[in-house]
Amino acid sequence: MKVFEKKSDLKNFIKDLKKQHRKIGFVPTMGALHEGHLALVKNSLKDNDYTVVSIFVNPTQFDNPDDLKQYPRTFLEDIQALKTLDPNIIVYSPQAEDIYDGEIRSESFDFEGLEKEMEGKHRPGHFDGVGTIVKKLFLIVQPDKAYFGEKDFQQLQIIKKLVEIENMPIEIIPVKIYREKDGLAMSSRNKRLTPEARAYAPYIYQVLSETQKMWNEKEIEEIKNYVKEKMESHPFLQLEYFEISDEKTLKPANEKKSGNKYRGFIVVYANDIRLIDNIAYN
Ligand code: PAJ
Repeated sequence: MKVFEKKSDLKNFIKDLKKQHRKIGFVPTMGALHEGHLALVKNSLKDNDYTVVSIFVNPTQFDNPDDLKQYPRTFLEDIQALKTLDPNIIVYSPQAEDIYDGEIRSESFDFEGLEKEMEGKHRPGHFDGVGTIVKKLFLIVQPDKAYFGEKDFQQLQIIKKLVEIENMPIEIIPVKIYREKDGLAMSSRNKRLTPEARAYAPYIYQVLSETQKMWNEKEIEEIKNYVKEKMESHPFLQLEYFEISDEKTLKPANEKKSGNKYRGFIVVYANDIRLIDNIAYN
């Protein structure tokens, strides 16, 4: 298995693949890999000649220094999991200094308003950090296709916008949310939940599933109130936000317009761990 740390080495390697007209699939991650990440990798292996997986905990996208410090890092296990999946996977695990050329800061982006909703409001600077690192990674890896999870649906829409505004010839492939058997969306942060919090966290998806059943009969306002009440009545979970938004614009929806697609987006704290999830309605 090839593991690259220096961008110059990876760039040279990619140059050779390009000369041979090989199709390159790319899965950017921050490591602490779980089945959700591996689902993205499996999709890429199926569609491309070569798959590059990056593992890099990107400092510029963390608005909370403590979250950055506590973010799980399991590099050796990650490499093992990828090797087991396919020994031909190419891993890119840069040091911040190298990938940022010594200047660890974000570029500012205008994602035509997508960056102002939901996560953009609650995590200032987050999407500038994501845009900055993904743009750098795309320029190094030059993939034909790149894979992003619907778990971070707003991020997925922003990356689609990024390739559009930067004119990058990369196809962005969305991958469905991969869940634990009890419904909890898989996340690297789940590793930090106490056993008690892990036991009650599936409540989030239970509530989201209820809203999906309500979608055809109830007004948006009623569904939002339902979620607020359900979350407020839970003794240990704290709701940060629940929003029903148009999938394309990510703007909050007040009414259902025919032809438009909607999703429910939620962020909840369980013993100080921030959990994010969403569900499609139509
Ligand atoms: P990370 O949180 O490691 O996620 C990497 C990719 O895996 C993202 O596209 C994310 O949506 C996807 N993913 C995570 N959990 C998933 C699940 N349960 N089901 C399906 N897909 C899932 O997202 C990031 O890293 C970073 O912001 C990154 C894009 C790498 C930039 O630093």
